[in-house]
Amino acid sequence: MASRLLWPAPGIARACARSTPRLTTPRATTLLTQRRSISAYGYEQAKALTFSEYGEPPSVLSLHGHSISPPHGDKMTIRFLASPINPADINQIQGVYPSKPTFTTDLGTPSPIAVAGNEGVAEVIALGDKAKSAGYKKGDWVFMKGPGFGTWRTHASATTSQVVKLDDAVRDGISALQAGTVSINPCTAYRMLVDFTTLQPGHWFIQNGANSGVGRAAIQLARKWGLRSINIIRAREDSAAEEKLKHELKELGADVVITDAELQSQGIRDQAKEWTNGGRDKIKLALNCVNGKAATAMAKLLSSEAHFVTYGAMSKQPLTIPASMLIFKDIHFHGFWVSRWADRNPEEKVKTVHDVLDMTRKGEFKDTPFDQIKWDYETKGEELIAKVKDTLEGYREGKGVFVFGKT
Ligand SMILES: NC(=O)c1ccc[n+]([C@@H]2O[C@H](COP(=O)([O-])OP(=O)(O)OC[C@H]3O[C@@H](n4cnc5c(N)ncnc54)[C@H](OP(=O)(O)O)[C@@H]3O)[C@@H](O)[C@H]2O)c1
Repeated sequence: MASRLLWPAPGIARACARSTPRLTTPRATTLLTQRRSISAYGYEQAKALTFSEYGEPPSVLSLHGHSISPPHGDKMTIRFLASPINPADINQIQGVYPSKPTFTTDLGTPSPIAVAGNEGVAEVIALGDKAKSAGYKKGDWVFMKGPGFGTWRTHASATTSQVVKLDDAVRDGISALQAGTVSINPCTAYRMLVDFTTLQPGHWFIQNGANSGVGRAAIQLARKWGLRSINIIRAREDSAAEEKLKHELKELGADVVITDAELQSQGIRDQAKEWTNGGRDKIKLALNCVNGKAATAMAKLLSSEAHFVTYGAMSKQPLTIPASMLIFKDIHFHGFWVSRWADRNPEEKVKTVHDVLDMTRKGEFKDTPFDQIKWDYETKGEELIAKVKDTLEGYREGKGVFVFGKT
């Protein structure tokens, strides 16, 4: 789909929308050729990846240009620095994610549109009086308080209630990429490791999707806390690539890394006994973002009374559990959604973010491999959308993250 480049201030946009939504008036043509450096009367020029209906991202996304008026009251204008492409963002565009984005005409379109993306870090570039008295200043870094804000955009207008400030001390030594990707995956891994059962140093947990952002975070947090982990990845056709990935996860702190095929092979129980001191060390927790047969096989390795936490559905298969696991082994099955947890525990969320950033600063927490997608003023919508499409494929070497340059 061709990208749209609408570019007027809101008042002008509404006038244009009444006459022609595609901006074919001479006035609009002038605005279309306007350079980024011109920000008349304090209006900030922004671009956003938006959608007006749910569907597959390549068919429904388009790049939309608009202006943001100078902030007043508790409003601030923020400029994004880094925004990742997470699986949940894709699900949200497809319309299958429980948290829905806001469809609005506030960005100057005749019909409502929503901005894609849920996570990211932005810099405050202008702010109203109330925002100043609330302790914000130009140059502050903020991340989004909850999902649905729309982070795949160069600039946005936000209120103080929609963002969380990263204090200067917390931000010290942290890159925009690190700050822009800390609030979802590392927090999810962190909470799942501490909130469902008490794991002491030496205790084991098992997880699938171990090379995902969440999986890599869990491995590193576990290493820091003295926990031991069995990690499951999907088998690769290229055995050298598979070995490389296993090695990479072990370098992060994984004790055991096996493929889903190895997990489902005969003799896996005996192997698990070998890893866990003849079965005397208990495997007390499983983290599941895959489902299907491999998740059932993972549950079978758990010790009695262990906890099995499902937080994703990458295989799109249902989770099937033999009744005996509930009746005789008394395994406790849970679901976890970091958005719900953060809503209920806003202060704990900030503390969790601080803990992870602290580990990052000390070199104890390594970045997930990133595929950095440069987004400058001149970047075409087609290029950005093609990159979003790439992330729909599995077996990727890095997580796509929009990194904003000169916007
Ligand atoms: N509940 C929550 O609060 C919460 C929070 C954060 C994330 N999540 C969920 O956690 C999961 C991982 O997210 P992420 O951002 O960490 O992922 P990510 O870094 O983007 O990595 C994607 C992971 O999914 C695997 N995968 C892709 N397609 C798959 C398939 N068809 N079957 C099995 N595995 C597949 C990939 O393995 P390959 O390398 O083999 O393709 C990779 O391990 C997602 O399901 C996400 O929605 C949930």
